[in-house]
Amino acid sequence: MNEQRTVVVTGSASGMGAATRTRLEADGQRVIGVDLRDAEVIADLGTPAGRQAAIDAVTELATDLSGGAVDGLVTWAGVPGLTTVPGSLLASVNYFGTVALLDGLRPLLADGDRPAAVAISSNSTTVQPGVPMDVVELLLAGDEPGARDAADAASALATYPATKTAIAWWCRRHAPTGEWAGAGINLNVVAPGAVETPLLQATRDDPTIGHFIDEFPIPVGRKGTADELAALVVFLLGPDARFFCGSVLFADGGTDAHLRPDDQPRPWTLRR
Ligand code: NAI
Repeated sequence: MNEQRTVVVTGSASGMGAATRTRLEADGQRVIGVDLRDAEVIADLGTPAGRQAAIDAVTELATDLSGGAVDGLVTWAGVPGLTTVPGSLLASVNYFGTVALLDGLRPLLADGDRPAAVAISSNSTTVQPGVPMDVVELLLAGDEPGARDAADAASALATYPATKTAIAWWCRRHAPTGEWAGAGINLNVVAPGAVETPLLQATRDDPTIGHFIDEFPIPVGRKGTADELAALVVFLLGPDARFFCGSVLFADGGTDAHLRPDDQPRPWTLRR
């Protein structure tokens, strides 16, 4: 492995992204953070222009720092499904802000040393009922105006798991292809449950849905910590995780297993 790996971390200024930066830097790795503030690359991933600016700035930095190669990418940047924000914000930041960076930085990863990418889903995908499938389909179709309209109609609360479902499916569709696995890039997904961060606190502070945060069952008896999730992501970026491809790893204290015990794995029924 190179002496110093270069890893791009979106959402690096707070919560699990900041914890990931801390772990990577403690390990001697170089981090290019992308966030609205306090990062090497300041960019708004909620707009097409902001995403392109982020990709251009990362490319320029990587050219200077590591000959244009990037060894890892983690897309933590995201916003919660509060009742006080429009659904369209989540469609643009959570989904399009993720897949644009995965797509846009993939050529840099292809030049990296044992490169890996980790996208961020959520256990809301399986434990929050009523995911609006029209939003999921419009996201996966790449129709940002259409997805934004449908997301506004559905609400941010419902759109949140839709964005996280679409991210997981996008990654499972792409991870095994020639562009990813075939180019030596391992792409996987982490789906956290409730993790104590500013995002979770913002949800707890929501006047309408806040009380659910501490009512949801977590079999291990506590919320996760940002550092626990950072540890999982750093493992997936590292040399011991080279057999992971297109996996969606839930780290949620047992909530999904408790509520949906027999839904994973789902056997494959072949029809004649
Ligand atoms: P956080 O709020 O502490 O950090 C999110 C970061 O994303 C912030 O630094 C913020 O500035 C950045 N960001 C937001 N909008 C952006 C934009 N338009 N452009 C660039 N950066 C932007 O959140 P936390 O909890 O660390 O969450 C990280 C990811 O994990 C999110 O995608 C979230 O949906 C996901 N997640 C969080 C869970 C939790 O319980 N905390 C549970 C499941 C998933």
